[in-house]
Amino acid sequence: QLNQKYMINLVLFGKPGAGKGTQAQFLKEKYNLKHISTGDVFRYNIKNNTELGTLAKSYIDKGDLVPDEVTIKMLEDEVNKNPEADGFIFDGFPRTVAQAEALDNFLESKDMKINATVALDANDEVLIARLLERGKVSGRSDDQDVDKIRNRFDEYNQKTAPLQDYYQEQHKFHSVNGIGTITEITERLTKVVDGL
Ligand code: AP5
Repeated sequence: QLNQKYMINLVLFGKPGAGKGTQAQFLKEKYNLKHISTGDVFRYNIKNNTELGTLAKSYIDKGDLVPDEVTIKMLEDEVNKNPEADGFIFDGFPRTVAQAEALDNFLESKDMKINATVALDANDEVLIARLLERGKVSGRSDDQDVDKIRNRFDEYNQKTAPLQDYYQEQHKFHSVNGIGTITEITERLTKVVDGL
């Protein structure tokens, strides 16, 4: 049974390549949380040729965001699949103000809430280098060339960056330096979470 008293629900925030997925692996172990990456769920659906995957692929391949109504429904399904979780790490969601509002309403209906949003900060040059490197190994369609990566940054700047104000108004926004070793960054994030 979901029990808000003992739950921590975190949003990991940051540009493509900032390290959200990498850091979520450590945080989920440390705090016993369920990690939901909307990008991973889309990629799983693409790999398995589902209807959702076919729809999402047309956006992801270009580096565009998938429409809100599709993404919100998917996220809600993922939360509902995990009624025993002690809390969630939302990685790559919300990415628009409409998604953030939908998430708040959905969590409230389950007597849950977001405790904190933590942003990983890094500059575009570092991020582009990380993504191009990963594209070589993973073959991720949206990491293959700089134009697609820049389009993902543009989407972020236009649609996702405004969420900083959204969470600041709720006094839930924190940010840490996203440059350094993976361990150093985990320590910075842990300090924020332990201080909640
Ligand atoms: P998504 O999968 O969320 O991609 P993203 O935001 O572009 O994030 P990345 O996975 O590229 O980066 P990350 O911050 O997780 O970094 P990572 O840890 O992997 O989304 C993909 C697409 O799906 C979107 O473009 C959109 O089309 C769609 N989508 C997803 N969610 C959506 C939503 N809510 N609404 C609409 N559409 C949505 O690290 C990156 C690389 O850097 C790795 O190779 C890693 O090993 C390396 N690295 C990490 N940390 C360090 C470090 N400290 N030093 C050196 N290298 C590091």
